[in-house]
Amino acid sequence: MTLTDAASAAAGSVAADKSAKIFVAGHRGLVGSAVVRRLQNVGYTNLILRSHTELDLTNQAAVKTFFSIEKPQYVILAAAKVGGIHANSTYPADFITVNLQIQTNVIDYAYRYGVKKLLFLGSSCIYPKHAPQPIPESALLTGPLEPTNEWYAVAKIAGIKMCQAYRIQYKWDAISAMPTNLYGPNDNFHPENSHVLPALMRRFHEAKVTGAKEVVVWGTGSPLREFLHVDDLADSVVFLLENYSGLEHVNVGSGKEVSIKELAELVKEVVGFEGELVWDSSKPDGTPRKLMDSSTLAKLGWEPKISLRDGLVGTYQWYLNNVKQ
Ligand SMILES: NC(=O)c1ccc[n+]([C@@H]2O[C@H](COP(=O)([O-])OP(=O)(O)OC[C@H]3O[C@@H](n4cnc5c(N)ncnc54)[C@H](OP(=O)(O)O)[C@@H]3O)[C@@H](O)[C@H]2O)c1
Repeated sequence: MTLTDAASAAAGSVAADKSAKIFVAGHRGLVGSAVVRRLQNVGYTNLILRSHTELDLTNQAAVKTFFSIEKPQYVILAAAKVGGIHANSTYPADFITVNLQIQTNVIDYAYRYGVKKLLFLGSSCIYPKHAPQPIPESALLTGPLEPTNEWYAVAKIAGIKMCQAYRIQYKWDAISAMPTNLYGPNDNFHPENSHVLPALMRRFHEAKVTGAKEVVVWGTGSPLREFLHVDDLADSVVFLLENYSGLEHVNVGSGKEVSIKELAELVKEVVGFEGELVWDSSKPDGTPRKLMDSSTLAKLGWEPKISLRDGLVGTYQWYLNNVKQ
């Protein structure tokens, strides 16, 4: 079946029933909270949500009981143990085990208790370190992974493969989406373990508040990266749930590359820091380019809507309202 055939086969399923029971796993996280907002905005009325404390998804018995009682019709799996390079290298056992447990429990019991369709979320770290740029879906398992997060990546690859295996063996509608770097409301602005974009926003904000003269950023600023607003991602997740049913996982990116330098200057401007931005080129730059090839999704008819500037303005407003001390 081609992607387009698959898309038409799936069209009209969940979209036709706005009271369908949908379990969003991880609904308090960056991705899960955006998916909940999007589902509600387009009229879905019957969402099932459980916090980590209410339902530990690593607990197989608890997940089984949950599915046997609640019997959701659709599942979006946005719960995961996520973290940066430092956390991944310090806790490799946690990253591989917790993620394998969460996804194995949720995917398997979703299937066993009659869920019609499940969407699994992974990330661009599933691809080989030296994948061609932009990275097509077909680059999966064609070379060695980036060693710093291979534990997490291996778990996510297993999640994609589980969805494929259940599709093949049970003819069950499990699909996977692989987003690029995300940002937006509910992002992690922690001073030590946040991603580059929220880390820059926090640092410029603190420098503005304290009246600092400069902000020093590691590297030369030359690496190229791709960012997608989490509300765009959530829109694509609902789009895929409603319109896609295929074996292949689907990349979700903005298709727009920005250098770290351009990003830092834009964040500086949005935050309103008027001091100097200094590059410490004695520090490492990281991989020179990382961009997803999202043409599969474009061919299915979806495209992002939020510009980086607009997305940053909204995210900074959210930061001011929710995070700053
Ligand atoms: N952020 C990005 O830039 C990005 C990019 C690409 C892909 N993704 C993917 O999107 C997915 C979600 O990421 P995110 O950024 O939204 O992460 P996040 O903000 O950390 O959210 C993850 C959610 O999962 C929950 N969770 C973790 N362990 C759990 C458990 N054992 N039982 C129940 N709930 C549990 C967390 O709850 P607690 O906080 O209470 O533990 C949290 O609500 C991941 O698969 C990730 O790979 C994210």
